[in-house]
Amino acid sequence: MVKQIKSYSISIRRNEDSYMNFIIEMDNSLTVIDALDEIRKKIDSSITYRHSCHHGSCGTCACIINKKERLACMCFLNEFEDNKIIIEPLTSFKIISDLVVDISTMINKLEGSTYLRESEIGKDSIKPNGILNWNRFENCIECGSCVSACPVKSDFIGPANLASIDREISKQTDEKVIKNLKNKAFKNNGVDACDKHYLCSKVCPTKVYPGKHINNLRKIKSKN
Ligand code: SF4
Ligand code: FES
Repeated sequence: MVKQIKSYSISIRRNEDSYMNFIIEMDNSLTVIDALDEIRKKIDSSITYRHSCHHGSCGTCACIINKKERLACMCFLNEFEDNKIIIEPLTSFKIISDLVVDISTMINKLEGSTYLRESEIGKDSIKPNGILNWNRFENCIECGSCVSACPVKSDFIGPANLASIDREISKQTDEKVIKNLKNKAFKNNGVDACDKHYLCSKVCPTKVYPGKHINNLRKIKSKN
């Protein structure tokens, strides 16, 4: 696509029902996070949002862009054909300020998860002395998008947590730990609380596919 400077209408949700509208000229090869930076630098320094890596790794910039959970740093302006962009905070979390939400309710439930796993790439390659396996980070970047998109808003431990429990069960060898993980997943607010909408898998930016893990836990439960 040819780079072009275009005019964008950007609406940012600021309070429960109020939006602030900005018109900015931006290179269409830039991203929504660049647009937020531009507004903050040149028009209104009071708008608040989170970001860190700018390349889809940290999960901090997740928000709702034109009604879908997205990472603002991976959302390019050239995909908005009518040049209108509405940015809202994730749902299901307490709003701290503008687009900044408190995801600690999700993070606290991930307690006990491990972040590394054996890499599926290069399994059979020759390893240097002292290296048994190549390790890599788990896919989940704790962005909160799946929790926000999930229509089950009552007592539910949520898709990210269930996906992490399923991954942990597959990695663990300690039967006692596995039993504890299963107990957590099979409580009333675990897999049985999922209504099978699977929007979590549709919005996850890193292809964790939480719905697939929830179904896997259902299979484990049916065999127990
Ligand atoms: S499972 Fe996907 S959508 Fe949910 S928190 Fe992790 S990265 Fe984000
Ligand atoms: S700023 Fe890190 S994922 Fe967007």
